[in-house]
Amino acid sequence: MVMLMRSLGLLLEEHRVMERALGLLETASLRLLRGEPVDMRVFPLLLRFLREFDLQHVEKEERVCSHIRRRVSSRILEDLASEHRLLEESLRTLLGILEEDLKSMDGDRVRSVVGDVLGYVRLRRAHISRVESHIFNLDIWAKRRRRCPRLCEA
Ligand SMILES: [Fe+2]
Repeated sequence: MVMLMRSLGLLLEEHRVMERALGLLETASLRLLRGEPVDMRVFPLLLRFLREFDLQHVEKEERVCSHIRRRVSSRILEDLASEHRLLEESLRTLLGILEEDLKSMDGDRVRSVVGDVLGYVRLRRAHISRVESHIFNLDIWAKRRRRCPRLCEA
């Protein structure tokens, strides 16, 4: 139980790091759409960071979820795995576009790509929220922590 709580705590911290990167992507995208100057290198840089981060995060998340499988339906776990595949595919597609020479794109194309980046940010945030509420079921963990605080200490 203590190991599971520690793993869960680490995953939650990693989600906060990801949300920070998503927030930076969103800020850069919105600035660009408002016509404000943006260093375009920030897009591939942050997306590459998220891709590298995912290499170990997704595996850990699926491992923790399999440990709590008894309280989570297999359908939810299948949805989680397919969301991971969708996010990975979206990330790969966006990186493929953004690692091209952005300077060769016209304004409409850049705005369209940035719109896709914002779509990715929304999808990713929704995924994190679903994982924390439906799979980690943070309400249950919070109640358990109140009932047995010493057991759940990290
Ligand atoms: Fe995930």
